[in-house]
Amino acid sequence: MNHKIAFSFADGKTLFFEAGANELLLDAALRNGVNIPLDCREGVCGTCQGRCESGQYTLDYVDEEALSERDLAQRKILACQTRLHSDATFAFDFDSSLCSAVGTQIVQGVVTSVELVSRSTAILHLDASATAQQLNFLPGQYARIQVPGSSHWRSYSFANRPNSRNHLQFLIRLLPDGAMSNFLREQCQPGMTLDLEAPLGSFYLRQVEKPLVLVAGGTGLSAFLGMLDELADEGGRGHAIQLFYGLTQDADVCELPRLDSYQSRIPGFTYQVIVSQPSEQWKGKVGYIPDYFYPEQLAGQEFDIYMCGPPAMVEAVKNWMEIKGLDNFNMYYEKFIQSNSPH
Ligand code: FES
Repeated sequence: MNHKIAFSFADGKTLFFEAGANELLLDAALRNGVNIPLDCREGVCGTCQGRCESGQYTLDYVDEEALSERDLAQRKILACQTRLHSDATFAFDFDSSLCSAVGTQIVQGVVTSVELVSRSTAILHLDASATAQQLNFLPGQYARIQVPGSSHWRSYSFANRPNSRNHLQFLIRLLPDGAMSNFLREQCQPGMTLDLEAPLGSFYLRQVEKPLVLVAGGTGLSAFLGMLDELADEGGRGHAIQLFYGLTQDADVCELPRLDSYQSRIPGFTYQVIVSQPSEQWKGKVGYIPDYFYPEQLAGQEFDIYMCGPPAMVEAVKNWMEIKGLDNFNMYYEKFIQSNSPH
């Protein structure tokens, strides 16, 4: 027996389709041309998450990094792991336009440079101008890039906004031993061509109608560079924007001149860098990101919070919000998991 399914989206649109008995929700959606953002299809990355508002379902597998116990109690689901037992309605906190029939595309990017911006961080610059049309993505989304000569693909957030020249940047953490890291360190040369698939992910800058709190962990900064590029080109959107940029070690801090430039180009933009295990040379802030939140200030206004970084950072901030009893915000986040999700 088929089940009637409704997907409602943040832009107020609702899409309807039918799913077969015991069919995975994601398979039913894709079969009906509803291309919701996805990545791993294994219940790990959390990209396909939504919330069940009515109906019966079970989940095959959910990695604890994708959804917490609390998320599950709130009936959050992963579409790639959801089996339906009745008609059901699901809400997704991204716009329906992300599910267009167009889906992703694979394009070629020519390496123009690999710029080392800290001890362990590089910016990969690609020129994809041979692609006739502008590569469309939303600031904050990511691409998968193939490690040449291998079957490995790695996910990285765009570090700039879409542009007609299709010049692309990705902030990449260089691991001591990783397929992409080794390639970038040892073989990558200007002029080489890389395949990339985009756009991917549901983490992107929504309509700015409230003050923004941006929380970046390590190379999670990449997604925010894309968002801030867009806000800077538009001269901001009339609301305060605070960026908290957290790292384990100060030797990995990067792109401060760029963040400084946003301060002059985006009215109301401020940022702070917080290091948890600093060297003796570090003169800046020490600790973890929530140590530098001001509960009274946050409690006094509605705000949107965006987080991109390791799962532990995202969970620490979520827990802090809960402990402080704050519920006056919309939260969007992307957790990255080694070599499977962004970064
Ligand atoms: S695509 Fe469903 S959890 Fe990754």
